[in-house]
Amino acid sequence: MFEEIIRCPTSALLFGVIVGLLVLRFINSSFSLRERRAPPGPRPLPLFGNLFQVDLKRLDQSLFNLSEKYGPVFQVFFGPKKVVVLAGYRTVKQALVNHADEFGNREISPVFYDFTKGHGILFSNGEPWKEMRRFALTTLRDFGMGRKISEEIIIEECHYLTEEFEQFEEKAFNNTKAIHYAASNVISALMFGKRFEYKDLVFQAMVERDNETIHLTGSASLQIYNICPWLGPLLKNWRDMIKNVEDGKADATKIIKNLKETLDPEICRCFVDAFLIRKKHLEDSKVLNLHYHDENLLYTVANLFAAGTDTTATTLKWCLLYMAKFPHVQERVQEELSRVVGSRQVRTEDRKNLPYTDAVIHESQRLANIVPMALPHAISKDVTFQGYFIKEGTTVFPLLTSVLYDETEWENPYSFSPSHFLDSEGKFIRRDAFMPFSAGRRACLGESLARTEIFLFFTSLLQHFRFTPPPGVSEDQLDLTPVVGVTLAPTPQNLCAFRRH
Ligand code: HEM
Repeated sequence: MFEEIIRCPTSALLFGVIVGLLVLRFINSSFSLRERRAPPGPRPLPLFGNLFQVDLKRLDQSLFNLSEKYGPVFQVFFGPKKVVVLAGYRTVKQALVNHADEFGNREISPVFYDFTKGHGILFSNGEPWKEMRRFALTTLRDFGMGRKISEEIIIEECHYLTEEFEQFEEKAFNNTKAIHYAASNVISALMFGKRFEYKDLVFQAMVERDNETIHLTGSASLQIYNICPWLGPLLKNWRDMIKNVEDGKADATKIIKNLKETLDPEICRCFVDAFLIRKKHLEDSKVLNLHYHDENLLYTVANLFAAGTDTTATTLKWCLLYMAKFPHVQERVQEELSRVVGSRQVRTEDRKNLPYTDAVIHESQRLANIVPMALPHAISKDVTFQGYFIKEGTTVFPLLTSVLYDETEWENPYSFSPSHFLDSEGKFIRRDAFMPFSAGRRACLGESLARTEIFLFFTSLLQHFRFTPPPGVSEDQLDLTPVVGVTLAPTPQNLCAFRRH
């Protein structure tokens, strides 16, 4: 019968049309099936998407609120751009860890592309990212990240920071600059083999620029620039940011040039040396490796500075602010430090004997939630996740706010409660949902260095000083509202540092 149909031209044509229609219907239905399986989300307006339903000034919070309505995987449109948001500890972990490959690319939005043109570690993907991340991790480990050498560097810096605080002679002061200089000097010692005096004007400008850039990047106008990049030159924040980036590059280039001129391949003084030695070695042995070039060196160093300074310093500032705000907690930390360590220098191995102090540091990091949306990720290949289809290239926000404040994980998500990290006998306990460094392939590369820094700086400062609000300001009046950038920093305010001994 089939043969009869195709022998008659009219029947064959009719048959062809029917098959064609069926194929079209199938394609159409599977397409709409995919559409149906797209994550839920608020209905977008043409052109504007959901811009009027989110608060760009506190994006993480407004996305967290939307997750209550739309669930742990939902989509929002920033103008025409679709973003999939992941909310809650279980979902964020499942995506970043169990589907590490699919969720492990970085979204390189226009503002991030302006920083490093796809080089370095923070805003790169594929082989260049893999090679630079691996190189940075091994080199930082060789230089003692999380081990003795970096401990010595940090302890030396603790002394300078303590001296700096002492100069204010118990009067109220803003600790921001000194803390940023200290954190920056730790990275600087690892990157360039030297620390800077806090009074060094070039160093001050470098640190200041990085702070400002981080603040600008999180501003509403630069988020609009990400949607309409052609607006860039019209936006003051964009022009300021580009100037900062160019000036920062010029300063770093000068330092790198000096290290190049004094390079001795037998003596590796710092990260930059390690890169130059590897580059020379590859060139000498005629191994083709396209990743070891000057731009990658410059941008990788700039990335580590930017990622390592502001985050660590901001965390430390929150820790001190919480101590001034909650004096009974501060007293308990100081009592533990006096009992366990006395007046000698605290070392990293003391941490295991300081469970309360450790819990206070963890709780400060949790509540401060300084990188609320991690950095944007992108889907590396089509994936079906929790039943939803997400297309390759889609931007993903892993909402760390929703992990660190997850009501199903934390007993008192919105209050400062060191007991989150203590068992009934007062021993320190790890919590899985403690994820300020994110997780998976793109998780923070500097976590162990950052943890050592925060622990040593915090304990050294609390051994020396008692932190209080300025005269005439009560603990209640200390402001815990964050200033929003890519990171959430405390509102600038003065504290007093009273000598304890
Ligand atoms: C308290 C301090 C710190 C916090 C809370 C923090 C947090 C983070 C977070 C949330 C990310 C994004 C992860 C993601 O996209 O999923 C990140 C990435 C990164 N961090 Fe940190 N960080 C800190 C300190 C540092 C330090 C000291 C360094 C450098 C030595 C550093 C280097 C980096 C780098 C290079 C990346 C990009 C990783 C990649 O894209 O592969 N961070 N960090």
